[in-house]
Amino acid sequence: MFDFDRVIERRGTHSSKWDNIAKLSGITAPDAIPMWVADMDFAAPPGVTEALTAEVKRATHGYYADTGSWAEACAAWLKRRHGLQVERSWISPTPGIVSGLGLILQATSAPGDEVVVFPPAYHAFRRIIVANERRILDAQLVERNGRYAMDLDALRSKLTPRTRVVFLCSPHNPGGMIWSPDELRALARFCAEHDLILVSDEIHCDLVFANARHTPTMSAVPEVMDRLITCVAATKTFNLAGAHVGACIVSNPALKKKLDARIGACGVGSYNGFGMIATEAAWRTGESWLDELMPYLTRNRDLFDARIEAAAPGARSMRLGGTYMAWVDFSGTGLPAKEVAARVAQKARIFASPGEQFGPGGETWLRFNFATPRPILEEALNRLDAAFSDLHKS
Ligand SMILES: Cc1ncc(COP(=O)(O)O)c(C=O)c1O
Repeated sequence: MFDFDRVIERRGTHSSKWDNIAKLSGITAPDAIPMWVADMDFAAPPGVTEALTAEVKRATHGYYADTGSWAEACAAWLKRRHGLQVERSWISPTPGIVSGLGLILQATSAPGDEVVVFPPAYHAFRRIIVANERRILDAQLVERNGRYAMDLDALRSKLTPRTRVVFLCSPHNPGGMIWSPDELRALARFCAEHDLILVSDEIHCDLVFANARHTPTMSAVPEVMDRLITCVAATKTFNLAGAHVGACIVSNPALKKKLDARIGACGVGSYNGFGMIATEAAWRTGESWLDELMPYLTRNRDLFDARIEAAAPGARSMRLGGTYMAWVDFSGTGLPAKEVAARVAQKARIFASPGEQFGPGGETWLRFNFATPRPILEEALNRLDAAFSDLHKS
């Protein structure tokens, strides 16, 4: 029903993914392929286009009235897709998840306080912690049997009286890990034991492959609801990142009051109408689109994994449970990380995310966004093949 193979020209459209390649990566080739930032090259669900078109046609773009329908659409989506019972009153819209994380930090900690991150982890966690003058407390993930695990005993020994908040990425980016209910319970109990606020960034929760099942932290550990803030969005799921709208879900009224006070103090409690209309329409109308997208992404994942491992013998792509970003360790190729990066950037003319961006443990890895029409993906894979062709056994 939906044509995910259709190539849409995005160059020259204010697409950060396509129009910031040279600026951010130094790759100046006009045919460079962006496989870095997490947005997709597919058209959004038709219901979103219809809702935005209706708004554009009305041509009156005044302040947006929050009637509660947006939160209702969010809650209904979470109930339908994840079995969650979320009250509308628990939901605060924010101008994206990352800004929500900044507001959460301001509401729950003070400058100089420590925030736990599990690296390699989504790089904006580090950026927003530092920008808010808090300190990063790295709780290194350990790789076991091809998947990451948290080492809470090691973390315990690093905690200080200034440790206040934990940022969990669930599903995990990068690596596409789906945390098990037991892992979530262990972390939540750890947070309760050490009086930490647990922030569960679940922006990738809908982008989960058929062999895995996302467990919302909220449902795995209802007993820690009073210290839990869950962040969700329609933007990643439905390719609306430019809409910049996210939701913080907080059931503890005192904690919610603190967060809302920060939202008020920063003047971001009056919402971007286009973003609200687009994301509400996505939750209300996008389900069949998502159900068709996932098999397409599954095929892209399988194709990417098979071909990258063949292209660069020794490279290993972590088996993703969710997200559309392959996380590839090149240490087994025997090439220095700098050389791998240079081959990908200069020979293949591909902008991939450097692993070191994700913190300790990412140094020998690259992250590749494969949410693109298959003709583009195949071109990228052909180029990667050529970039490492001297490593192929004859
Ligand atoms: C884990 C995670 N959180 C948040 C974001 C970005 O959210 P936003 O654009 O709403 O700030 C991303 C984008 O890649 C992400 O991977």
